[in-house]
Amino acid sequence: MEENNEQGKEIKNNANIQEIVEETIQHLNNPVTDLKPIVKKYLTAVQHVVAEGNKFYFSDGDARVEVRVVSDEIIRVRLAPHGVFLDDFSYAVPVVDQKVTTFRIDETEDHYHISTNTVTCNVRKLDFQISFSDNISGQVMNEDHSPMHWEENVDFGGYYVYATKQCLPEENFFGLGDKSGNMNLRGRHFQNWNTDAYSFGWEQDPLYRTIPFYVGLHDTTAYGIFFDNTFRSYFDFGREDQTKTSFWADGGELQYYYIHGPHMMDVVKRYQTLTGTHPMPPQWAIGYQQCRWSYYPESKVKEVAEGFRSRQIPCDAIYLDIDYMDGYRCFTWNKKHFPDPKRMIKELNDIGMKTVVMIDPGIKVDDNYWVFKEGKDKNFFCRRSDDYFMEGHVWPGRCQFPDFTNPTVREWWGGLYKELVDLGVAGVWNDMNEPAVFGSGTFPNDVRHNYDGYRGSHRKAHNVYGMQMVRSTYDGLKKLMRNKRPFTITRAGYSGMQRYGCVWTGDNVASWEHLKMGNIQCQRMSVSGVPFCGTDIGGFSGEPTPELFTRWIQLGTFSPFMRAHSAGDTAEREPWSFGEPFTSINRKFIELRYKLMPYIYSVFWEHHRYGFPILRPMVMLEQDNISNHYRQDEFTFGDKILICPILEPGAVSRMVYLPKGKWFNYWSHEVLTGGQEHHVDAPLDIMPIFVRAGSVVPEYPVMQFVGEKRIDEVRMNIYYADYEVNSFLYEDHGDTFAYEQDIYSEKKFNVKGDAESLTIRQSVEGLYTPNYELYTYNVVGIPFEVKKITIDDKDIVDFSMDEHNCLQFKSNKNFHYIRITI
Ligand code: GLC
Repeated sequence: MEENNEQGKEIKNNANIQEIVEETIQHLNNPVTDLKPIVKKYLTAVQHVVAEGNKFYFSDGDARVEVRVVSDEIIRVRLAPHGVFLDDFSYAVPVVDQKVTTFRIDETEDHYHISTNTVTCNVRKLDFQISFSDNISGQVMNEDHSPMHWEENVDFGGYYVYATKQCLPEENFFGLGDKSGNMNLRGRHFQNWNTDAYSFGWEQDPLYRTIPFYVGLHDTTAYGIFFDNTFRSYFDFGREDQTKTSFWADGGELQYYYIHGPHMMDVVKRYQTLTGTHPMPPQWAIGYQQCRWSYYPESKVKEVAEGFRSRQIPCDAIYLDIDYMDGYRCFTWNKKHFPDPKRMIKELNDIGMKTVVMIDPGIKVDDNYWVFKEGKDKNFFCRRSDDYFMEGHVWPGRCQFPDFTNPTVREWWGGLYKELVDLGVAGVWNDMNEPAVFGSGTFPNDVRHNYDGYRGSHRKAHNVYGMQMVRSTYDGLKKLMRNKRPFTITRAGYSGMQRYGCVWTGDNVASWEHLKMGNIQCQRMSVSGVPFCGTDIGGFSGEPTPELFTRWIQLGTFSPFMRAHSAGDTAEREPWSFGEPFTSINRKFIELRYKLMPYIYSVFWEHHRYGFPILRPMVMLEQDNISNHYRQDEFTFGDKILICPILEPGAVSRMVYLPKGKWFNYWSHEVLTGGQEHHVDAPLDIMPIFVRAGSVVPEYPVMQFVGEKRIDEVRMNIYYADYEVNSFLYEDHGDTFAYEQDIYSEKKFNVKGDAESLTIRQSVEGLYTPNYELYTYNVVGIPFEVKKITIDDKDIVDFSMDEHNCLQFKSNKNFHYIRITI
């Protein structure tokens, strides 16, 4: 064998370079797939239709298509090339049917029309082309370019499946989850295959996660397509042909959901009704978190933890990356570096620092290692098609891998966390679960998976492997922590992963380009249904300049997941590592995160309860302004706070676009008119932040960690508006699931102003009562001279204007209404 190889090398070495070049060009011109004749089959004329409840079956005599009314605004389409549908099972969508008000089928000369209250799915009899239209405007939102088609593959016994839609000249595209590059996807081609993409670059594809969901935006109206197919899939947004948008997959079923708008926000919220929202995270997990590969031994962990406390920089969690383990064996400890983990974790807890640990899927092949032995004895590890174990090298060396698509394996794995939970570990970080394997990249396609009883090869299970791992972790922790909210992070995932954990964008680089890219990535993940997302602040590999690190902390303050992380071969990367003035600026922004905790937490609730994305790109705020289809720096966190990060070295000011309405500069309180761009100052200690006029933005006192002190007093920042605006404040116990039993408090504020008065009304919902009774009011931007303040019929005599011209007063009880007049 070896000899042959050597000989082969020899021949190549002697070959004429020109010949090799020509050979290569020939290969490029004749991709391997072209060697086999491709026979694509298309649906032909519709021959008959059968209705079964909310499902309609169309056939061209051989293939069948199911059109299913999921809700008033969601319709699902499935194709069975030879008439037999696959089992209806999805990891992304646990329950397909939602509430439908009414639906019906009509037949015209050339079409069948299935309509709900709001949307109609039209099936053309002649050629089986499908379109979706809005019932009120009649606008066709999405339309086939050619009928659905497929290609039989005898090697694996399935079909390559294709859908090709019309791509209109003015149409733009957003979403698709974990993609780098510009926010607007028009003109690009993508592939979904979860990949360990160390130091990935601008427009590198594929990356770590698969979210086959996009939003299409015509001039002013949006719709969504969710292609629920876990195989390697592809999307093309007018790249191959400007008139076509296509999506296809290397297997599985052609199954997609059409999701109606007309607003991009409606589409995303409806996508979340299919795939679920993120559960409320423990409140501490919204605090700042510090990570590194790796903090060890114990003395180093404590030094870093105490470093935060002695410098009065807030932080809620410290991470133990792989080096805490014994030879990278999951669920073990390196006793030399961590002789008494229980004591260490307690001592960290005593100063308010939670411990989060790394757990990877690769289990070291070692008969003296209990996890390996158990997995082997129970037959829980993945096997190849001919029954050999799936083996590959990862951090511990030779490894085998649990089949997380097997519910029994998930149950077992979830239970393995018992000792870590008993030791006091507060969160778990699942990494390398694309799954990543050194050398080969990932598993070979022939590896078999249980797939919750709907068996399949790795071709089908690859993209859900990571999601099923973090699902097992989340469910296991939930049981072990007895009604405390688990905190989990995963690197890989598939649509629906948001039900089980938060994500970070993987191994980024300490560069300005990555800061810019990470900003877009987090916004994109947010509008793709995965809102609890962050980047490695500072960049994982490489060295950030002090300025870059500080600008990253500033942006990170408004990343749903705020964690600094770095590779082990880089210089230290704590918020104080760069000296002054950087330490103070970093502290100022981390403190801001803690001040805004009640606002940030409320935005998480808005996502969990109502499906709103946490970060909202400009295009989502004002989709009818075409220039916003190309903006990608500015975004809002929730509805009220707009962020405009500084993404260039040396910048001390920048242009910012503000949506229509009035906005207050958070720092200077200057009022700016939206619907246009403004030039704003941004010296190093300022990142431009704006608050929507009319907002109520609550603040807690700065704490070094969540729960450090009892909250006695809440500051209510009220921003004047001469129109009406609603805000809300959500609070609960912070770490239990009591909110599922309505034990929470949701305060709704209505702010309404005119030239002579400002009125704030409040209503409260839920069964939770916060501790505090003291309210400090800070009213910004009142345009008249205040003479009188009334809270629920009682006049407040003690009020003043501070040096920023803000009205200050206090009250020791909550209110129904406040009236401020001349
Ligand atoms: C992977 C992770 C990174 C981690 C490292 C060591 O590269 O993406 O965050 O620090 O593995 O565990």
